[in-house]
Amino acid sequence: MVEPTAIPAEQPGATEEAAVEQTLRPQTFEDYIGQPRMKKNLRLAIAAAKKRGDPIDHVLLYGPPGLGKTTMAGVIANEMATGLRVTSGPAIERAGDLASILTNLQDGDILFIDEIHRLSRAVEEVLYSAMEDFKLDIVIGKGPAARSVRLDLPKFTVIGATTRTGSLAAPLRDRFGHLFHLEFYSVDDIKKIIERSAKILEAPIKDDAALALAKRSRQTPRIANRLLKRVRDYAEVHGSGVIDMKATDEALRLLEIDELGLDPADRRMLKAMWDSYRDHPVGLNTIAALTGDEASTIEDFYEPYLMQIGFIERTPRGRIVTMKARKYLGLS
Ligand code: ADE
Repeated sequence: MVEPTAIPAEQPGATEEAAVEQTLRPQTFEDYIGQPRMKKNLRLAIAAAKKRGDPIDHVLLYGPPGLGKTTMAGVIANEMATGLRVTSGPAIERAGDLASILTNLQDGDILFIDEIHRLSRAVEEVLYSAMEDFKLDIVIGKGPAARSVRLDLPKFTVIGATTRTGSLAAPLRDRFGHLFHLEFYSVDDIKKIIERSAKILEAPIKDDAALALAKRSRQTPRIANRLLKRVRDYAEVHGSGVIDMKATDEALRLLEIDELGLDPADRRMLKAMWDSYRDHPVGLNTIAALTGDEASTIEDFYEPYLMQIGFIERTPRGRIVTMKARKYLGLS
């Protein structure tokens, strides 16, 4: 067993939530539900690496937020029985920050870098040479007295997580031996995750309520776990503590989360796009201006699921609200 590592919340303003989320994270492949292709391949890679006594090749995980990238990094560290160091692209500001992280790793350790697409170019360059040959070139001193030294690093594995592979520089992307795209989960798998989490939280949940909750969780484990906790609150305050259909329906009505898991922000965005642009494509920055969000928030958080359910289409000239979305929302 590895020491449990504090894993930071991936969204701001969620410290207590993050602590609970941590207790719900599976530690083994056995407990990790869904993503069968990724599990099969990583199991093989880990078995082979263990047999050779080597660390596994660097792993790049990409896909929308909340699908279990950080969780999978924890599972890999646990299955390899190695240490896990967690950091993120924006947290590593200078090459020196990275050098200090790398020189403090132990042989075989895993370095998890969340939002790896947000590393600066200078840091990226240091990272990919370290990943390539486990050496670190650093310059000591300034001006004519400056000299370069080459340090040996422990053999480590980088697990990088990103919502977009497109914004990763090719030389960095090429250093990863394993690339996996995390897919949205089936309703069935989300239901299993909800039932597993309910058991850990000691919150009894009825079968039909688990299914209803699963359908409204945007095919995303993090959202499923969050909604489960809100419905549990409701069942404890207004009911017997058992999560049934009534508690589920009423709690989600209170949160204004509809049958497809859309919340007021999704509906507002789709309506604003339709009201202003009808069936013409709208650019990402224009959508951001309409809703008052950052373009990256729209691209990373809202859009992937709306595209998954066929409510938004991406064209080279922008995004279009589909007929399916208009029918569902009653936009004429
Ligand atoms: N919690 C978050 N992601 C999970 C997964 N894939 N399986 C089980 N529990 C999870």
